[in-house]
Amino acid sequence: MKTADPNFIGNAIPEYSNVQVMSYLIATHHEFTRNIMEEIDDLIVLAQKEVQEPPEELAELAALWKKYHRDMVMHLHDEEQILFPWIRELDHSGKNRDEVARTYTGPIKHMLEEHQHHEEEIERVKKLADQLSKKGGFIPVLARLSYKLRQLTNDLEEHMQIESELLFPRILKGN
Ligand SMILES: [Fe+2]
Ligand SMILES: [Fe+2]
Repeated sequence: MKTADPNFIGNAIPEYSNVQVMSYLIATHHEFTRNIMEEIDDLIVLAQKEVQEPPEELAELAALWKKYHRDMVMHLHDEEQILFPWIRELDHSGKNRDEVARTYTGPIKHMLEEHQHHEEEIERVKKLADQLSKKGGFIPVLARLSYKLRQLTNDLEEHMQIESELLFPRILKGN
């Protein structure tokens, strides 16, 4: 968890219950991710239309973005509709560690143990954002696009950290 900034809004998260952590994730990171991906969608279309002789990174971004966006929307959906309700139920059932371990099978097991946020693609998007900013940061639409991409990847890093380093280890350890 980020601790350098004493006012960081997430400082109290480790003290939250599982249900509170999930509610925080949905209200902040999930909501933010959905919204900013829509904005990025529009900016890519606009940039392709407006910028004459755009940097080659724009075409590369446009090519990978559709799938990235779709996969991320599915990921958020699956968490909110399958994984989080399961954790909520588990929390209320008062099951002990062994019972919990027996409960995570099939898709839940997969979602917990192989939880993936497509880190490689995030890295790729980050690099493309840097290049777009370097080569076309003086063009307003590219400046906005690269800035939004940066915001997305920064937010995702925090989001992934809360899930992979705090919430899921608690479940896997049966806390
Ligand atoms: Fe999430
Ligand atoms: Fe996730």
